Amino acid sequence: MNKLRCLFAAASLFLAALVIVLIVMEYKTQWRPYQEEYKLILQKTAATDIQKEAADSFSIGVRQDWLPDFNQADRCRSCHIGIDNPDAPVNQPLTSHPALGQHTFQKFGCTVCHAGEGYATRLPDAHDHLLPPRVIEASCGKCHDPNAIKDKAPTFVAGQKLADKYNCNACHQLAGKERRKYSGPAVNGLPTKVDAVWLAQWLKEPKKYLPHSRMGNFLLTDEEIQALTGYLVSNTWEDEEQFFIEDEADEQFLNELDDDAYDELIEQGKVQFGRLRCLTCHSLHGRGGSLGPELENIGKKTSGRWIAAWLSSPSQYDSRTIMPTFRLTRAERVGIAEYLRLESEYMDEDEAIEEESETEFTLQQREYGAKLFVIKGCFNCHPLDGVPDTGEFAPSLADLADKKAEKISFGSAHVPHTLPDYIAAKLQAPRIFGDNLKMPFFDLEPEEVGRLTTFALAQSSSIPPDYNQKTKPSDSGIGGEVGRLIDRYRCMSCHTIQGKGGTLAPDLSAEGSKVKRDWLIEYLQKPYAIKPTLVERMLRLNLDKQEATLLADYITLALRDRNIDDYPSPADSTDSGTGKTLYYEKYNCQNCHAIGTGGGYFGPALDLVGRRLQPNWMNARLENVHRYETNAREPVQAIPQNDRAALVSFLSSLRGGKK
Ligand code: HEC
Ligand code: HEC
Ligand code: HEC
Ligand code: HEC
Ligand code: HEC
Ligand code: HEC
Ligand code: HEC
Ligand code: HEC
Repeated sequence: MNKLRCLFAAASLFLAALVIVLIVMEYKTQWRPYQEEYKLILQKTAATDIQKEAADSFSIGVRQDWLPDFNQADRCRSCHIGIDNPDAPVNQPLTSHPALGQHTFQKFGCTVCHAGEGYATRLPDAHDHLLPPRVIEASCGKCHDPNAIKDKAPTFVAGQKLADKYNCNACHQLAGKERRKYSGPAVNGLPTKVDAVWLAQWLKEPKKYLPHSRMGNFLLTDEEIQALTGYLVSNTWEDEEQFFIEDEADEQFLNELDDDAYDELIEQGKVQFGRLRCLTCHSLHGRGGSLGPELENIGKKTSGRWIAAWLSSPSQYDSRTIMPTFRLTRAERVGIAEYLRLESEYMDEDEAIEEESETEFTLQQREYGAKLFVIKGCFNCHPLDGVPDTGEFAPSLADLADKKAEKISFGSAHVPHTLPDYIAAKLQAPRIFGDNLKMPFFDLEPEEVGRLTTFALAQSSSIPPDYNQKTKPSDSGIGGEVGRLIDRYRCMSCHTIQGKGGTLAPDLSAEGSKVKRDWLIEYLQKPYAIKPTLVERMLRLNLDKQEATLLADYITLALRDRNIDDYPSPADSTDSGTGKTLYYEKYNCQNCHAIGTGGGYFGPALDLVGRRLQPNWMNARLENVHRYETNAREPVQAIPQNDRAALVSFLSSLRGGKK
């Protein structure tokens, strides 16, 4: 009996002790002092009766945001208690949160943006894996298209641009994106373009030839470089004959020129190079665009003969190139080629020595090169006949943001064991975690590493559909920010785009081949009556400049018709005088069209048609008005090619009048 009583007493004591321990633990929570301090401050600063009442009734306890959409409970507010109080004190963790707009804590919690351990109420557990502020914009990129948050998340947006530049997507799967293979030029025709010396140098250090190269450095050994070079320069190319079809005639043409005529040819080549605006895409002597490679050293890379053949048909060399086919005469083509070649051709002594390096390759070397082309992942970016795209080359990054640092093998590298540090180190020094790794070296500036790390940390596949602004399906079936603009402004209730939409207004499926971008940006902001007889009007939509530019870019890039693009674009504006005569005297276009104050109004006024319409579209239209506008009311007229060219150059010169 006594024994039993003792046991009972012991059990009671134990229970009592447990209760005390629990009570003490509860009072020793880390969050309680913060909340007590906060309550005190509230009471002290309360000015009105209502505020006093609120301060007194402030209850101390765990704060939890239960987020069923994320299957997550965030208790961060237990310490970060003043987060939604604009008047909260300024000391961490009591302080209020910077404005967050539509992202309410009740709906978003904290960890979706900050990471960390939502359920934990103690430090350092709660802050485990917390995203450092320098990469916090990664969270915005998890849910938003870069275009939608351009000014709000500049670091992430800059990172996205770099990722596009370096084609991370060619090797890696990214969240919500297909792998974008073949982002480099085709290399089937390489033996006709470059020699072994140039190629070996290129593979050793691409940025030495192209300071803005978009291809990483694969850190190849000399042996690997020789093998790859041997393989790539000894390929045979099926289309070689077709590509050089004008070659003989070009050569003969050049041979027949005397010195003066040759100098004149080059002079003209320079003029054409400027007039055709090659610098929109290429740079030369530090000026120009970056869509195409710098042409500074092109004479060291390839021959005048190759450039001339390339200019005559870029797509014959590489069917995927974005370099347009210009309609050039032989003299123009050869003139530009010679101009570019001479502009850059010189040889310093260093190179003269390199010239003597190996140019003969054994079968063994070439076979090894063929293997390396696959092993090193060249096939991801460069199409080459007979080399399949096997796809699985690099790990998917689609849920990189959710990768736990504990699961990463850091090897012996001296890098803090966190995910952001891991990514930054990998980008900065791709071999840091092992010698046999394959990712190329991009030679990035420290701030570029930061931007790309932010971009990489935005790769998450775990965003619930309701929150994922990137993949939210749009009614138009067009993705991203553009799709949402088109939905919001209901463009497709009036316009058809690629077979879908209304018929009240012109079909926009080939609008990009028809109108000029600058005109479009203006027009979308301030539409005016184009066709005066049309009853329906384009709505004034109050688009701002940024939205108009986004739409205009989409329209000019995506809504195109190859047939129109390939149409000759009479470029010779010296002929506009002839065109004017034809317009007024032979074809009497003024019966239906007004220019200035004279002319008819059955058709649109043509005062600024040169700013509005692409010349090749006008040319195609003048040949057959009904081909691209099935319900056009302008009659079909049989206008021969020469007259069309003159008319188009006259029309292209009309740029004035109303805005
Ligand atoms: C136990 C209390 C506590 C909890 C729980 C807590 N924090 Fe904190 N937090 C603090 C304190 C204290 C600071 C200020 C000192 C510091 O930076 O460590 C702080 C600072 C921060 C900062 C600023 C860091 C900086 O470098 O400027 C962020 C962001 C943050 N917390 C996010 C969170 C998130 C997200 C959670 C939930 C996953 C959370 N905290 C949970 C106490 C807490
Ligand atoms: C939509 C994303 C988002 C959500 C949700 C979010 N934050 Fe933040 N938070 C940010 C950003 C962005 C900053 C940095 C703001 C700045 O520097 O201007 C920030 C800053 C902070 C800071 C540092 C403030 C300072 O002035 O240094 C703390 C602490 C913090 N957040 C805690 C939280 C807590 C706790 C929650 C949940 C209750 C939360 N955040 C929810 C995006 C978010
Ligand atoms: C978990 C997903 C998610 C995260 C993370 C997120 N957002 Fe949002 N954001 C949304 C949603 C959902 C809306 C509401 C959109 C709506 O209802 O139209 C929104 C709205 C916005 C808006 C208003 C957009 C508009 O169309 O009016 C802006 C701007 C914005 N977010 C910027 C940011 C920034 C900057 C960050 C990073 C600090 C961020 N968002 C983080 C999902 C997210
Ligand atoms: C030629 C293909 C290739 C390109 C281009 C490439 N990577 Fe990689 N990357 C790899 C391979 C292969 C790995 C696996 C580790 C290794 O072998 O280096 C890797 C690993 C990574 C990792 C570590 C992933 C993990 O789960 O551990 C990150 C992060 C990464 N790459 C980011 C990038 C970014 C950002 C870019 C664009 C700037 C990029 N990569 C471009 C091939 C590539
Ligand atoms: C719309 C942009 C664009 C325009 C305009 C353009 N190019 Fe190109 N060009 C490219 C691209 C892109 C390449 C690279 C090949 C590729 O990736 O398909 C290229 C390649 C070249 C090359 C080969 C360079 C190399 O290093 O391999 C030459 C030479 C060249 N272009 C000359 C010209 C000339 C001359 C003009 C003007 C008559 C011109 N380009 C106009 C985009 C353009
Ligand atoms: C991530 C994409 C990517 C990968 C992988 C890649 N390249 Fe490139 N490569 C490019 C781009 C882009 C260019 C165009 C020039 C530039 O911007 O650097 C290029 C240019 C070249 C050229 C010059 C072609 C020409 O017509 O001017 C050669 C040769 C070449 N790469 C060989 C290789 C080899 C060999 C490998 C494998 C070791 C490889 N590349 C891997 C993207 C890549
Ligand atoms: C209420 C119907 C309506 C809506 C909504 C509408 N449009 Fe239009 N749009 C028209 C009509 C009608 C015209 C022809 C105007 C004319 O010829 O004077 C037109 C003309 C245009 C043109 C010029 C076509 C040409 O001939 O080159 C473009 C481009 C265009 N719209 C784009 C858009 C975009 C983009 C949106 C959505 C942001 C949009 N429209 C919304 C009715 C509409
Ligand atoms: C019988 C009247 C008529 C004659 C004659 C006529 N057009 Fe037209 N034109 C139109 C009409 C109507 C349109 C509007 C589209 C449609 O419905 O065909 C138009 C559209 C155009 C456009 C597109 C304008 C724009 O901004 O979209 C151009 C360019 C054009 N015409 C040029 C000419 C030229 C050049 C001639 C003389 C060779 C000519 N037209 C003769 C009636 C005529």
